[in-house]
Amino acid sequence: MEKWSLITITVLLGLIVRWSVSFGSYSGAGKPPMYGDYEAQRHWQEVTYNLPIKEWYFNTSDNNLQYWGLDYPPLTAYHSLLCAYVAKLINPNWIALHTSRGYESQPHKLFMRATVLIADLLVYIPAVILYCCCLKETSTKKKIASALCILLYPGLILIDYGHFQYPSIFFKTKEFQF
Ligand SMILES: *[C@@H]1O[C@H](CO)[C@@H](O)[C@H](O)[C@H]1NC(C)=O
Repeated sequence: MEKWSLITITVLLGLIVRWSVSFGSYSGAGKPPMYGDYEAQRHWQEVTYNLPIKEWYFNTSDNNLQYWGLDYPPLTAYHSLLCAYVAKLINPNWIALHTSRGYESQPHKLFMRATVLIADLLVYIPAVILYCCCLKETSTKKKIASALCILLYPGLILIDYGHFQYPSIFFKTKEFQF
């Protein structure tokens, strides 16, 4: 088979597995007062959208750091802000300051899952394909096999789509402490 059709099949397989895992529940669903990482990600959208940048990392009356305070570097925060702009367009309640705490709904879950998939599509998957295609002195078969192994690596899929985080694109050791 053509190299590019094999790569396409590899990517599609990676996407199908990711999307299938995302149909499951996520940790912390329906569990007040803190919920889980899903709520942390949503809360960061709320904070970054509604507060001035200089307040993002500081405890104020509008930003209780004990409730999922933003503890990731600014690139993550800007990503949250980007997602927040899209969330605002779809449903402002998703990121309303204070009142959106613990917000859960099917459309919102779909939105959150989609943000992970889009991030993977734009950043992670192209990086993996590029990396594998650039492997030196390796047959096409081995390159495709490497891409398949990396894209189907269960660890990242379960954390990103099951547990709910974005380690595929924001790789940090902290992710592995849970
Ligand atoms: C942070 O701010 C919240 C209110 O948003 C307050 O309840 C909490 O006590 C503050 N925490 C600290 C450590 O100052």
